Amino acid sequence: MAETSQGRKRILSGMQPTGTGALHIGNLEGALRNWVQMQDETELYCCIVDWHALTTRYAEANKIWESCLEVAADYIAAGIDPKKAPVFVQSQVKEHAELHLLLSMITPLGWLERVPSFKEKRDLMESKAEGDESVSYGLLGYPCLQAADILLYRAHAVPVGKDQAAHLEISREIARRFNHLYGEVFPEPKSHISETTAVIPGLDGRKMSKSYGNAIFMADSADEVAKKVMGAFTTPTKMRKTDPGVPESCVVCQLRKVYDPEGYKTSWDEDRAGERGCVQSKRELIEILNSTLEPIRKRRREILDDRAELERILKDGADRAREAAVTTMNMVRSAMGFK
Ligand code: TYM
Repeated sequence: MAETSQGRKRILSGMQPTGTGALHIGNLEGALRNWVQMQDETELYCCIVDWHALTTRYAEANKIWESCLEVAADYIAAGIDPKKAPVFVQSQVKEHAELHLLLSMITPLGWLERVPSFKEKRDLMESKAEGDESVSYGLLGYPCLQAADILLYRAHAVPVGKDQAAHLEISREIARRFNHLYGEVFPEPKSHISETTAVIPGLDGRKMSKSYGNAIFMADSADEVAKKVMGAFTTPTKMRKTDPGVPESCVVCQLRKVYDPEGYKTSWDEDRAGERGCVQSKRELIEILNSTLEPIRKRRREILDDRAELERILKDGADRAREAAVTTMNMVRSAMGFK
């Protein structure tokens, strides 16, 4: 069911505009690269989910638009062609809000309370902000809003990193529940997660994440990348060059695997055999990373320099996304018996 008129699969994905610096290389390698690959064969929608950012950044709402522009620039700099795949901001397509409201009525509270990222964010906010009252009703409803983002486009697949698997599971459950109550409207969206880039590690070995302060950003300068990589975790028991390394648990080796899929094996063998030091591995990684990121950085700057054009791209993206959204909302209202 529900292939588009051109027989292409519908794909939707999104990223949060979470402040200056915009996207990191975990976002890039874990998800965005797959979007770029899919844009020719599918009908891809690239959303910038500003309302989701509000679940934690509500006190700085007036900074979110600026972050949206940066995320849009990152999408395009990474290779998204907005003529093929609409790039748009969630809050500019109001149908996201209507579907979220309707889905919130059929989503059991228990499903939302059990989501691991809710518990994590709640604990984090309660520990550093003003206690209980920093955690909003909107934060609890986060996965329901995400389900609305996806189902609004009747998407078949959602390319994401592994950390989104639980959210995708809820989206499928909500789709099933809606279809069961009101009749078949939504395809069940599958998560599309690439095995080798499902979890990109950050500089400290945990998952790369802006909130952990362990990220390399797409906008980082060559010097910033060098400084960050020089400070990255390697194998803790490898003190000297001749000590054997454990590439599987070394951040530098893991990033090398992602950025040098052909050549990484030799460096891993040398690392294991105690034939190379961590400093050499770091220097090589810096070279590789910077040569991959430099053209993206350059393009990103050019895009951000022409703000009027970027805003035009976002408006056009929202207009095209809205067309698909309006069609779905007509189906939803009619299935539920609303006029
Ligand atoms: P967000 O903004 O945290 O992350 C955006 C995308 O980047 C992926 N990602 C990673 N992948 C691999 N390794 C990492 N270290 C890493 N860090 C982030 C995420 O898996 C994601 O694909 N809830 C979503 C935003 C969202 C959404 C949607 C996504 C809202 N509505 C609808 C898809 C469809 C989020 O916070 O992603």
